[in-house]
Amino acid sequence: MLVSGSLSSWTACLGLLSALSATFAPAVAVKEHDWKKCHQSGFCARNRAFADHALTATSWESPYNILADAGSFKDGQYQGVILKTINDAGETVRLPITISFLKSGTARVTVDEEKRQKGEIELRHDSKARKERYNEAEKWVIVGGLALDKNAKVAHQDKNQLTVKFGPFSTFEAVINFSPFSIDFKRDGETHIKLNDQGLLNIEHWRPKVDKPAEPEKEDDGNDTPDEEGKEEQTEKKEEPKKEDESTWWEESFGGNTDTKPRGPESVALDISFIGYEHVFGIPSHAGPMALKQTRGGEGNYEEPYRMYNADVFEYILDSPMTLYGSIPFMQAHRKESSVGVFWLNAAETWVDITKGKDSKNPKALGVESKTSTRTHWMSESGLLDVFVFLGPTPGDLLSKYTELTGTTAMPQEFAIAYHQCRWNYISEDDVKEVDAKMDKFKMPYDVIWLDIEFSDDKKYFAWDKHSFPTPLEMGKHLASRGRKLVTINDPHIKNVADYPVVQELKDKDLGVHNKDGKLFEGWCWPGSSHWIDGFNPAAREWWVSLFKYDKWKGSMENTFLWNDMNEPSVFNGPETTMPKDNLHFGNWEHRDVHNLYGLTFHSATFEALKSRKPGELRRPFVLTRAFFSGSQRAAAMWTGDNQADWGHLASSIPMVLNQGISGFPFAGADVGGFFGNPDKDLLTRWYQAGAFSPFFRAHAHIDSRRREPYLHGEPYTTIISAALRLRYSLLPAWYTAFRHAHLNGAPILKPMFYTHWSEEAGLTIDDQFFLGTTGLLVKPVTQKDQTTQTIWIPDDEAYYDYFTYERIPTVKGKNVTVDAPLEKIPVLMRGSHIFPRRDIPRRSSALMKWDDYTLVVATSAKADEPADGDLYVDDGDSYDYQQGQYIHRRFTFDPAEGTLTSADFEGRNVASIKEGEWLKKMHQVGVDKVIIVGAPASWAGKTTAKVQSEGREWEVKVEFTPAEKGKAAFAVVRKLGVKIGADWKVVF
Ligand code: NOJ
Repeated sequence: MLVSGSLSSWTACLGLLSALSATFAPAVAVKEHDWKKCHQSGFCARNRAFADHALTATSWESPYNILADAGSFKDGQYQGVILKTINDAGETVRLPITISFLKSGTARVTVDEEKRQKGEIELRHDSKARKERYNEAEKWVIVGGLALDKNAKVAHQDKNQLTVKFGPFSTFEAVINFSPFSIDFKRDGETHIKLNDQGLLNIEHWRPKVDKPAEPEKEDDGNDTPDEEGKEEQTEKKEEPKKEDESTWWEESFGGNTDTKPRGPESVALDISFIGYEHVFGIPSHAGPMALKQTRGGEGNYEEPYRMYNADVFEYILDSPMTLYGSIPFMQAHRKESSVGVFWLNAAETWVDITKGKDSKNPKALGVESKTSTRTHWMSESGLLDVFVFLGPTPGDLLSKYTELTGTTAMPQEFAIAYHQCRWNYISEDDVKEVDAKMDKFKMPYDVIWLDIEFSDDKKYFAWDKHSFPTPLEMGKHLASRGRKLVTINDPHIKNVADYPVVQELKDKDLGVHNKDGKLFEGWCWPGSSHWIDGFNPAAREWWVSLFKYDKWKGSMENTFLWNDMNEPSVFNGPETTMPKDNLHFGNWEHRDVHNLYGLTFHSATFEALKSRKPGELRRPFVLTRAFFSGSQRAAAMWTGDNQADWGHLASSIPMVLNQGISGFPFAGADVGGFFGNPDKDLLTRWYQAGAFSPFFRAHAHIDSRRREPYLHGEPYTTIISAALRLRYSLLPAWYTAFRHAHLNGAPILKPMFYTHWSEEAGLTIDDQFFLGTTGLLVKPVTQKDQTTQTIWIPDDEAYYDYFTYERIPTVKGKNVTVDAPLEKIPVLMRGSHIFPRRDIPRRSSALMKWDDYTLVVATSAKADEPADGDLYVDDGDSYDYQQGQYIHRRFTFDPAEGTLTSADFEGRNVASIKEGEWLKKMHQVGVDKVIIVGAPASWAGKTTAKVQSEGREWEVKVEFTPAEKGKAAFAVVRKLGVKIGADWKVVF
């Protein structure tokens, strides 16, 4: 019997559903052939063939030309028409193009297809599907940053070309070539990005279906043997390029499912070249290195393009361009001291080919031939061509501009960044209480316990299983008394049974997704026969929100939060385990148009629901989602889905989480311990250590795996895991501060080397170590069995200290250093010139630490006079009062020349003038318990006191100085400073 995070076949599903929570066989690995390869996806195969022809033909010219006379430029926007020549007779179709230059310096290129005559449309089919290209992705994704740059100016114009200067001090330039259409984007006179440089622009225009004599059937069952695949590829290559492959225009089959295509072929494709950039990053989620690989074969490269088609690919294979659960079509290119990027706003199935090389087809690009360039080929099945171009120059610029458009990560509930204890499933209230008590007994802090699908009455998610969870409110209150929370799962499939009011309402109000005939779509998932809420329908969203009111969802309370799973959506008996593409959503858009957005519509409705559970109560929601798209960061955290309890999956989780962070969705983590299988104790321990440095930190396990709560493993594991948990808890102030920065400007929470050290070429592709926020903590978790040392790449000349021993590590810029990493040790270095906050008294949950004093750690610079700085952000961790200034954000500066440590408002606000609410008032009782100065000046030997000045007073405190010894740096400790954390203060040493 097949058991997995999801099921890939209808038959497996039927056999399994009734016995689901009873017996389970070992999980099986993902079957690659259950998911399409490019040659099995009609539009991908057509566009690759198009590219092969364009790139090899001796006389290829892109058939897309801007109609020079039809265009005009006004107020930062060019509007014109591209004519596509569609046959040898010279017939054309008209494609309106808009090029917008935004105030942020971002450029946007949108190409649509001109509305067709009514008569023509009727000819095509009798489907209910909407006829035009999907044009509402923007509505779901973009939340700002669209104001036009009225200062953008035409710098040159003739019948072949239009050049527009835009961006900061007009340093950006777009050279729009008319025949054939292409655009060169320049910064400071140098080309960085080119659109259609290779002539791969392909907008499959509408055409009427002409019935031809039936061609011999060529159904692909998706089960090709490698031999068969090879043959098919060869056949494709030999195909006469002029004759288009029409076999998948109107219908295509895969794995026994047939997709009807009422609009016929309608893909959009474009080549985007990053000139002089050898490395590109982003487009999560894929299990592979952060620096994307080439995809058209060759040693060490992939054969397949990167695919973005949200899917329930459980137990995924590593190092693969296969699609996973979520998609962010934002790609960035980095080289020494320069970063640029593109955002491809399209929610349909998308594939991206990547090649690199020094050659250039374009003779005009001669000047850059010595540098390697990366050429990418984007292919989406339907919708508009809509691409945003970011010209940097820094990685931070890319992130701030991208998140200006799509939103930044929401300020989380403070508990949400603490530790989460989950498994499929805690089986009863007693089970929950026992785990809760054991965590306390073994002194392991945790904040949240999770209930997976078995909490519900037969997978009717708003109903509790009456036998196992008879008194959920009592259980919730028990958790609340310890400052703890409960997260329950709630999936988008609604069980289709007679006695379930939720499904009855969905049917009565017609709020579900429809099939191609306009009937309520029915498919199979955990509950058996199910319907899917249509998150695109405003009425369905409103209804969904209403279901979460405390008085409607009985058993839920203030400390109940949500987990949205299976929202790709996963449909066990659907094509590629998802919904048929010809299903219909609100407004009669086909599922194919919006597939990658579906998960976002669902988790964002849940987010809204949690904001309005009770009139007058406005608290920050916590929602975890599996599927996501650009914009999801505004409303959810994500995890990397159904991984496996092996070392490879642990190692892979790090680049995956880093990639999320640089793609604007940093609230990310992997199932600690691995979902499938049983980790050995070493693996589990190392996973906890890595998890403690992951923005989302949750242990989770498959129902079939052995119990593995962190206290179960005996010594030394219990102590070591407990130390990792406590380390996370003590650093929560630093994590929360990092979330504040992410919320303000889209900065990643875990920063790869290229982000912090963009001038170091050798660090560009390093994806197994990172800095945490602005703390200067350089972390490289151990991810290999029996490893007892760790090699860390050092990006600069700063001082580096061991986090735990204060040892000054002998480092050399650009070289690796090896540090000890026995099982009990997480390799964490403190970079000189930073200050970070901690809370050092370990408690059972983050809520219980709310009013504890802080510790500040100063890591002094390698340069004697160089200051160290850092910050602390804190608010009530729960409400939106921070939006009214109810927060504390301090900047700490240690000046070795002056011998002072000061605390000032981070934004230079006049703190005294802030009208304090209840929380700010209560914060008067919170102070600084301790300051540790690692690398304290040797001249402090003999120093025993320092002066503290704050709020008009001055007093003396004790200083304990420990001189440097046996490789350890000198350090000084000052205890009980007696200052308020929110006040201005100064320590004079
Ligand atoms: C699939 C999810 O990925 C997994 O985390 C969860 O435990 C199962 N669904 C059951 O809900």
